[in-house]
Amino acid sequence: MTVPLTVHAVLARFDRAIGLDVSPRSVSGHAVAPPVVGHVDVAAQRTAVVAAPELPRSSHAPAGSREDRHARLAEIAARHAATCQLCAAAGGTRQLVFGEGAPDAEIMFVGEVPGEAEERVGRPFVGPAGEKLDEMIRAMGLTRADVYIASVLKSRLPGDRAPSAEDIAACGPYLLEQVLAVQPRVIVTLGGPATKWICGIDSGISRIRGTWQTWTPPAGAACPSIPVMPTYHPSYVLRTYTRQVRTEVWSDLRAVLARIGRAVPTRTTPSEA
Ligand code: URA
Repeated sequence: MTVPLTVHAVLARFDRAIGLDVSPRSVSGHAVAPPVVGHVDVAAQRTAVVAAPELPRSSHAPAGSREDRHARLAEIAARHAATCQLCAAAGGTRQLVFGEGAPDAEIMFVGEVPGEAEERVGRPFVGPAGEKLDEMIRAMGLTRADVYIASVLKSRLPGDRAPSAEDIAACGPYLLEQVLAVQPRVIVTLGGPATKWICGIDSGISRIRGTWQTWTPPAGAACPSIPVMPTYHPSYVLRTYTRQVRTEVWSDLRAVLARIGRAVPTRTTPSEA
């Protein structure tokens, strides 16, 4: 029987995997689950997938220069492609969507799961939700090249179903490695699932948005805690295109700009009211 892991159980695995376990269990350093090739029975994978991958000791290293961060992200992407049990289960027909942006970005946006448009080109947030996210970033006086964008899951799910706890347990740890590599000054979580995975908090997004939360790195990692601003997912904004929702998102983004000491536009209403 499959026992869904809680976020904290997975984070504990993450700690163990980077050598922070105080239990007698041995740690295998760089050992990773073998890549899954060819056709995979997705149902069978669902039962196997709860074991989060072992993560490397390089997660202990300080972020370093922009080039160091870039190299680290490239290494994580390659290892993810070879070893993520969820994305391997998606099979060779699906393009992975690892994430993109400035390796030393001050702001990291975290979404949930790629959709059809993202899968087609292998880039995050390029469909309708991506256009909305671009608009949000532009309104902040920034471009996509200034920020880093990733999602909790890195492949589209069959039938665009909602991610399960097992999906997140399998693929989510690679996002934590991305956070450790980029070490942004602020993380903006887009929607409830991303907020839950990053902060370990299971509050409804409408309750928690606009309130500062914290991403706590695994103990021993050379990374400070990072403030997190949860806001609505751009898909939700598109579905619920009310002035109130757009004003709330804009307020959250203005708070992010203030937090990192950037100029905050005086306008308090959304751009196209
Ligand atoms: N929604 C997400 O959460 N991530 C993407 O990459 C695209 C849409």
